[in-house]
Amino acid sequence: TEWTTPLRYKPYHQWSKSYQDMLAAELEQSGWKLAFHIQPKTGLLNDPNGFSFYNEKWHLFYQAYPFGPVHGVKSWYHMVSDNLVDWEQHDYVLLPDSPYDSHGVYSGSAMTVEDKLFLMYTGNVRNEEWERHSYQLGAWMNTEMEVEKITEPLIDSPPAGYTHEFRDPQVFRYQNHYLMMIGAQTKNEKGAVLAYQSSNLTDWELLGELDYTTEEMGFMVECPNFVLVDGQPVLLFCPQGLDKDISSYQNIYPNMYVIGSSFNKETVSIENTSDLINLDEGFDIYATQAFQAPDGRVLSVGWIGLPEIDYPTFEEGWAHCLSIVKELSIKENHLYQKPVAEMQELRQNHQELQGSAQASNTLLSSPDSNVYELKLELNAGTSGSLYLFADKQNKEGLKISFDAKHDTISMDRSKAGIPFGESYGSTRTAALKRQDKLTLHIFADRSVCEVFVNDGYRVITSRVFVKDPQQTHIFLQGFEGDYTGDFWTLREMN
Ligand code: FRU
Repeated sequence: TEWTTPLRYKPYHQWSKSYQDMLAAELEQSGWKLAFHIQPKTGLLNDPNGFSFYNEKWHLFYQAYPFGPVHGVKSWYHMVSDNLVDWEQHDYVLLPDSPYDSHGVYSGSAMTVEDKLFLMYTGNVRNEEWERHSYQLGAWMNTEMEVEKITEPLIDSPPAGYTHEFRDPQVFRYQNHYLMMIGAQTKNEKGAVLAYQSSNLTDWELLGELDYTTEEMGFMVECPNFVLVDGQPVLLFCPQGLDKDISSYQNIYPNMYVIGSSFNKETVSIENTSDLINLDEGFDIYATQAFQAPDGRVLSVGWIGLPEIDYPTFEEGWAHCLSIVKELSIKENHLYQKPVAEMQELRQNHQELQGSAQASNTLLSSPDSNVYELKLELNAGTSGSLYLFADKQNKEGLKISFDAKHDTISMDRSKAGIPFGESYGSTRTAALKRQDKLTLHIFADRSVCEVFVNDGYRVITSRVFVKDPQQTHIFLQGFEGDYTGDFWTLREMN
């Protein structure tokens, strides 16, 4: 298929059931289908939306285009969970069926308000000249999980001085008001985050541009997400077109964050902010959402995928997945991301790892499939590499190298199956803080690898598309010393 604009915006009801069944069957047969990551039912998934806890369940929505691996006209797909690990597919709940969202129900957030879940999102509309108009819209979901749109926009235009690149509202309670952060672009095409306030969720007053950096934030900020972590304000955001001299990154668009000491609503500023930091040191994380759960934890989930990059699954008619859920915390002004504790519910067979590695290849495990959790503890004073998704001879594989002299860790996916996104490089390197032990906590899921380094000090996420399902070997190479660890096969999500 050639995905022309008219085709991408073809109304949902004009696609046949048999075509959708064919897409579902193709995904079902894919060797890259994920076991425990949220993936699209058919077609394409992008940003996580509306991550929340409501009526005793976890709710998570995502941006969906059901009819192919392209960014066509979007809607929200709804997932429900009791444990953050097993996700029930509910339904498409916000469809592009109103004059205010005819060209896409774009990203947004959710918040429990009394006995309902309030959803806030962007309606994308194009006119005859294909000019964009962005509306900020609302909807209510009840305990039956029925979603009803609020008919009139909550905010019908960007404020003076800003363009219609104006989207991704994040709503949350702050003191005795509701606040909303939204991605924006100034008339001279600079990225910005705007803050609004409301007391009734209907009338929204502009507080102003959020002050969180003195630098220019590229041409557009997508998916801003403000959250208090251990009392400190953290802003997660995606500054498109950010100058690499301001903060270095390699992905087409970065997902970054800043930490501040406090939030001042009067001046709309996050005070004493850190430099910009890459949220993930790998290849594929974008549009991360985090929220403060009622149990006190701050939980996050990201999109594993990037705009404008071709992924090998496109040939199979589907695209992308979400990350596992992570718990955020702050230590010494640094954001830590850990796999949420509930991930343990997926564990099946356990294998204890212990031994002494020689400089040559040491085989740690060769599981039946790349669906596992691996925890490894190594002496940080030694350099070496860990190979995942490797073949028997360790010629092909995903290489994770640790350099004791420079205190860095890198991931090299140039020999890990089908190459893609290569113009943005095949290696990523992150700095570590010097410590005695290096700990790697890894979740592999057929075509995804998420690596949590030193208790979540760094996270490195990558898609991996090996062609041979036998490529499951795990080797240590070049590392001389003792290692200990645990290996579990993981079950599929229910
Ligand atoms: C980020 C994004 C958002 C937008 C959505 C559309 O990936 O471009 O800014 O709301 O995706 O699907």
